[in-house]
Amino acid sequence: MQKQKLLYKGKAKSVFETEDSDFLVLEFRDDTSAFNGERVEQLARKGQVNNRFNAFIMQKLAEAGVETHFEKQLSDNEVLVKRLDMIPVECVVRNFAAGSLVRRLGLEEGQELSPPTYELFFKDDALGDPMVNESLSITLGWATQEQLAEMQRLTYVVNDVLAKLFDAGDLMLIDFKLEFGVYHGRIVLGDEFSPDGCRIWDKATKKKLDKDRFRQSLGDVIEAYEEVAQRIGVPLD
Ligand code: TMP
Repeated sequence: MQKQKLLYKGKAKSVFETEDSDFLVLEFRDDTSAFNGERVEQLARKGQVNNRFNAFIMQKLAEAGVETHFEKQLSDNEVLVKRLDMIPVECVVRNFAAGSLVRRLGLEEGQELSPPTYELFFKDDALGDPMVNESLSITLGWATQEQLAEMQRLTYVVNDVLAKLFDAGDLMLIDFKLEFGVYHGRIVLGDEFSPDGCRIWDKATKKKLDKDRFRQSLGDVIEAYEEVAQRIGVPLD
């Protein structure tokens, strides 16, 4: 399937229409952004690494019974996906405290969260992706109660599958963010799963191996993504 008109240019991916209205092409670019797009840099190989990482994870999730938009990797930087009607709510699970939760509640970074917590954020760069809840999401018409319940159920299934996968590579899945959409009436996982949208630490040293390396200017960002990929078995070449 060929990519046609550019539909939308996000911070790290561009979205193209195809000749079939049920499918889109996502192009993973090397652009890396933080602080809601305030800081943007090009990191060589990032588009390719994230495309392969995402394809691998989406296939693992499909095997575990989570329906995803992933259809087929088309090239180093491109993937064919189902066209979803996206729900503007980001679903976050946290297994250990980090990021905005630490800032908000003054917790110690790395503190175990048992059972894992689940939070919703409104996807809106101009507002800085503010935290919301189910009640607001229903009242403002972003999703129905049933859709939100299914998103929460699926996010926890993803956490179970991926926490084990990363653990087998001696890695800790600290937290992650998912986005869902509706496809022919069903809730389907969209967007991407890559080290841009999650936190992953080395189990022994607690070294950060995710986008916090970029946010915190720790260096070797893509080398860290590649290390995670290699440890969980993502084919990189
Ligand atoms: P936070 O600690 O900044 O709230 O983020 C929690 C996790 O979700 C972290 O792995 C980063 C990811 N995330 C995104 O990738 N994009 C977002 O817009 C948000 C709110 C979170």
